Amino acid sequence: MAGRTGLPCTGAAAPAGTLRAMCGIVGYTGRPGAAAELREAGSHSALDVVMEGLRRLEYRGYDSAGVAVLTEDGVQSRKKSGKLANLAAVLEEDPLPVAATGIGHTRWATHGGPTDANAHPHLADGGRLALIHNGIIENFAEIKQELLQEGAEFLSETDTEVAAVLLGSLYRGAAEGDLRRAMQLACQRLEGAFTLLAVHADSPGMVVAARRNSPLVVGLGENENFLGSDVSGFIDFTRRAVELGQDQIVTITPETMDITDFFGEPAEGTEFEVNWDAKAAEKGGYGSFMEKEINDQPQAVGDTLLGRSDSEGRLTLDELRVDPEDLKSINKIMVLACGTSAYAGQVAKYTIEHWCRIPVEVELSHEFRYRDPIVDANTLIVAISQSGETMDTLMAVRYAKEQGAKVLAICNTHGSTIPRESDAVLYTHAGPEIAVASTKAFLAQITAAYLLGLYLAQLRGNKFQGEIKDILADLAAIPGKIQQVLDASGQVRELAEMMADTRSVLFLGRHVGFPIAMEGALKLKELAYIHAEGFAAGELKHGPIALIEEGQPVFVVVPSPRGRNSLHAKVVSNIQEIRARGARTIVIAEEGDDAVKDYAEHVFYVPEAAPLLAPLLTVVPLQIFACALATAKGYDVDQPRNLAKSVTVE
Ligand code: AGP
Repeated sequence: MAGRTGLPCTGAAAPAGTLRAMCGIVGYTGRPGAAAELREAGSHSALDVVMEGLRRLEYRGYDSAGVAVLTEDGVQSRKKSGKLANLAAVLEEDPLPVAATGIGHTRWATHGGPTDANAHPHLADGGRLALIHNGIIENFAEIKQELLQEGAEFLSETDTEVAAVLLGSLYRGAAEGDLRRAMQLACQRLEGAFTLLAVHADSPGMVVAARRNSPLVVGLGENENFLGSDVSGFIDFTRRAVELGQDQIVTITPETMDITDFFGEPAEGTEFEVNWDAKAAEKGGYGSFMEKEINDQPQAVGDTLLGRSDSEGRLTLDELRVDPEDLKSINKIMVLACGTSAYAGQVAKYTIEHWCRIPVEVELSHEFRYRDPIVDANTLIVAISQSGETMDTLMAVRYAKEQGAKVLAICNTHGSTIPRESDAVLYTHAGPEIAVASTKAFLAQITAAYLLGLYLAQLRGNKFQGEIKDILADLAAIPGKIQQVLDASGQVRELAEMMADTRSVLFLGRHVGFPIAMEGALKLKELAYIHAEGFAAGELKHGPIALIEEGQPVFVVVPSPRGRNSLHAKVVSNIQEIRARGARTIVIAEEGDDAVKDYAEHVFYVPEAAPLLAPLLTVVPLQIFACALATAKGYDVDQPRNLAKSVTVE
């Protein structure tokens, strides 16, 4: 299936090779030879390919990088925290020998901070095996315990090193020196999301790779083959690609490619020709990072949930490292955040108050410390920040700590300032968010806030374990429901293109739909530079209804009609009120809600979901609308005017 360049802002299924990854991964195996011969033959060394591929993947953002090559003396590797230039400097000072086989990695930290030790590759089997990884291994802790009992030693805090040591142990044991067999056995043990690439000194010219819930593509060359977390890792060298399917293992040599499942049965990948240019390849075939990140949202939510509850439905947030007794003693939560992150905090307020019966205040960080707030040792501050560098929020956190409060950060950027200065952190796993306007990080923040609320309810006994398990099951179904919204969003895009000349749009919502209305308005302001305002629907008659005139576009986020306390009827009557005054009503409603049809010029349905979880679905059409309208106006949706990705000034 051919990839497509410059995809419009759509939820269309990602074209083959459009792969979503947190880390950058490159593998190569080609004709052996000395550098001079290789270059004379117009070929390239493994390091040439791997470093070029990592440069192509650099846009993703990351916090460390590393490479490993196979030489006559076995595996040799270099790795370094920070940008790729830091690794290049290390290679300058301490070069690797010319080699024909190698792997490379840029890391977006999930387990363990961005340090040299935590950078990939990770070595095992006495340094004879090197492994790189993209994803999250859910059961790494139990496997690590088993390996420690067998006498294994670990140099890092990462889940990846656990996979490397497991692979090395199986290589020496049950796989009897067969790297592909060892990878098959290891993958039968591992749970979660992973793309793994491994080389072993005993298997020159060979790279073995595996994928589950995380992307992997093979590049097919002449007497050389490539691997990448997406095609941009090798697009400079070949455009013939094979996308691997779920739970598959691929073994490449310069002349061969062999695919099996995790149990050794032969399997097939999907071959395609990459017809994107390199720039489009970096965006996974989408026309912008904004579109790519909107479409990455199912994975961002899924990855944020990964490994944080057990099969019994118990939350396992050991990473918080907060004394449960401290959490039991809090009598107030204050959320500190700005912009989109503050709207995530608003959704958290409704949810945590309902589940935990703890009062939750949501404060704009830049207002918080100037209003002489009431904060003490029984206040839990929850600082929500994608970048972890927002100065307003950082200063508010410092103020709150001076007042004796405990601070828990919800953050998407490992090792950034706000988590470092907090008492605890719950990282979102949305992967690097490149576009200035936040989308996937917003959904991941809401997801992390749900996890925090359930954890508090579990600790404080507000909910039975069975209730928590049911909510977690509902949450686990959300990524698939987001994908349904994305797949059905062509009409949203068409409406946006028709409305490209609109000068003002209003957004209404109630309960958890209110912060979503506010976020929908912010997206339109940020991306399309259009006056947009979000209101609580109940506020209409207290003033804003005066804004309604003939043809005024109004988005209305309608709550589910199901449930005894539904606000559905009230919101439908709000729609009637504005419709009667000439408004152009555009409604986001739950599938099957026919009651809204009579009062809506356009209805965009989202799948059924528990009312408190609905924000993860209802915001998506609003994101796509804003992105498509801005695209129709020819604006740069990744770098909107006047905005920065992280506001590091007060
Ligand atoms: C989101 O679309 C905006 N770019 C902005 O409001 C952002 O959410 C805000 O600046 C907070 O950033 P943070 O999450 O990195 O702290």
